[in-house]
Amino acid sequence: RRPIGVAVLGMGNVGTEVVRILHENAEDLTARVGAAIELRGVAVRDITRWRGVDASLVTDDPASLVVRDDVDIVVELIGGIDLPRSLIRTALEHGKSVVTANKALLADYTGELASAAADAKVDLYFEAAVAGAIPVIRPLMQSLAGDTVTRVAGIVNGTTNFILSAMDADGDDYDTVLAEAGRLGYAEADPTADVEGYDAAAKAAILASIAFHSRVTAADVHRQGISSITVDDLESAKKLDCTVKLLSICERFVDPDGRERISARVYPALVPLSHPLAGVGGAFNAVVVEAENAGRLMFYGQGAGGAPTASAVLGDLVMAARNKVHGGRGPLESTYASLPVAPIDDA
Ligand code: HSE
Repeated sequence: RRPIGVAVLGMGNVGTEVVRILHENAEDLTARVGAAIELRGVAVRDITRWRGVDASLVTDDPASLVVRDDVDIVVELIGGIDLPRSLIRTALEHGKSVVTANKALLADYTGELASAAADAKVDLYFEAAVAGAIPVIRPLMQSLAGDTVTRVAGIVNGTTNFILSAMDADGDDYDTVLAEAGRLGYAEADPTADVEGYDAAAKAAILASIAFHSRVTAADVHRQGISSITVDDLESAKKLDCTVKLLSICERFVDPDGRERISARVYPALVPLSHPLAGVGGAFNAVVVEAENAGRLMFYGQGAGGAPTASAVLGDLVMAARNKVHGGRGPLESTYASLPVAPIDDA
């Protein structure tokens, strides 16, 4: 069979690991897909600094790479909004399936990009955008497609969980732990996105949109970060048999006028030590999903870092490649319910 050509845009922590796994697992991936997956190019910001990939594959011109005839799937790991939005749109319009981990982009543009993918009859997958290695998007879209999800709540930012856990366990100073989270590849390029809750809010918007088949954007999410939490706060929490976690909570609820609505919020919360989320340490994430018939499900694992996030990207890549080889598409993003988001004060 004709090989499936892949372009990787962005070679940070995750992109580097994606290329490594593609190379190391090439034989298994070929067997799983039914065709070889071949790297056609990697786009980086500065080609003079790039080492580690065959020089002939490296370009600083992602726009040309995404429209190449020998590229079937584009993996977007650049970050930011405007450039990846335009590159993904171009790729989709040229019939390429797209895999992205870009939560900030998806939080505001999932609808636009999903429509473009539907028009072009290609796949748009983004498992890696929420909770790193943990499968949570696909379970919500596929496994629970016959149920009614009522609540999705959990810890979806590894950096802040790493910071709060270290402050709690060792009394470590906030700035020292934040720097360590950066060194370990958990934190965003600008860690303000982590500590002020923007990253968790973007993920909450994506989760709420998928879980409730509606459109929720980052601006709809009530957001409070952890930068004002002190070791004293954690000590006080301990006296109440609690710890502090940055929680993202998305709920479907009925307002006093009997209307069904959505609430999405991110804030540091007191969590009783007896609750399963209290035991989620380090950069780990955990998401609890409640559905009318399934009951309560919990997803737990590595929510940040190059290799775990790359694992989710590779899963999407294999799905998209299988569809290219065997035909078929999906899962499809849908917004039929279109529930209004409650104003923050009502939530
Ligand atoms: N900065 C993010 C986090 C990376 O700490 O969770 C994964 O999205």
